[in-house]
Amino acid sequence: MDFKAIVFDAYGTLFDVNSAAEKCKHKIGDKWEAFANFWRTTQLEYTWLRSLMKRHKDFWQITEDSLDKSMKVFSIDTSMRSELLNLYKILSPYPEVKEVLKDLKKKNIKLAILSNGTPGLINELVRTNNLDAFDDLFSIEEVKIYKPDTKVYDLPVNKYKIQPKEVIFLSANTWDVSGGGNFGYNAVWVNRNNSHFDNLDYKPKNEITNLKGLLEIV
Ligand code: LAC
Repeated sequence: MDFKAIVFDAYGTLFDVNSAAEKCKHKIGDKWEAFANFWRTTQLEYTWLRSLMKRHKDFWQITEDSLDKSMKVFSIDTSMRSELLNLYKILSPYPEVKEVLKDLKKKNIKLAILSNGTPGLINELVRTNNLDAFDDLFSIEEVKIYKPDTKVYDLPVNKYKIQPKEVIFLSANTWDVSGGGNFGYNAVWVNRNNSHFDNLDYKPKNEITNLKGLLEIV
């Protein structure tokens, strides 16, 4: 198969969503990881619920709303709010990301991000981490509905005038792999935490433990 584009999910796939809370673990204590997971789950639930309710708010507002609920649930001092939010804007990439992108850049294939994040957020993450390999940064703000709506997965296909099956889509989020796979992408699961896949009508042909595995597929 001649792939024309490699499209990456952002949060959890390129950037470590738990790294904001982890950087504050000396203040939050042992519950930092449970808190980080709850914040992430609530944030995603809000994206799905707002899409179903047709009450769009952008990803930054959703990140704030979900943080406020999570801080209450975990009794975290409100004075930490702005510190956590500022750290979320500069999340760290996973260790292998830079090197893999450098290798992929040598191939004649489009490289892009497709994310729930706003254009401002994705730009900032890419810029602060010096990831200059991408041809395009696609944000759901173009269609104002969240993944896994098919309008989102249509964005790179429309821009590059290619077929969904010509796209390799990578996500560490199982539901996002299912969404992209059902749309017609060759969706690859980045199974960073040795976990289990979903039962949502798509099983990825390829499963890798980090992005280095991608170099054996393309
Ligand atoms: C994103 C979320 C799903 O970047 O991780 O779109």
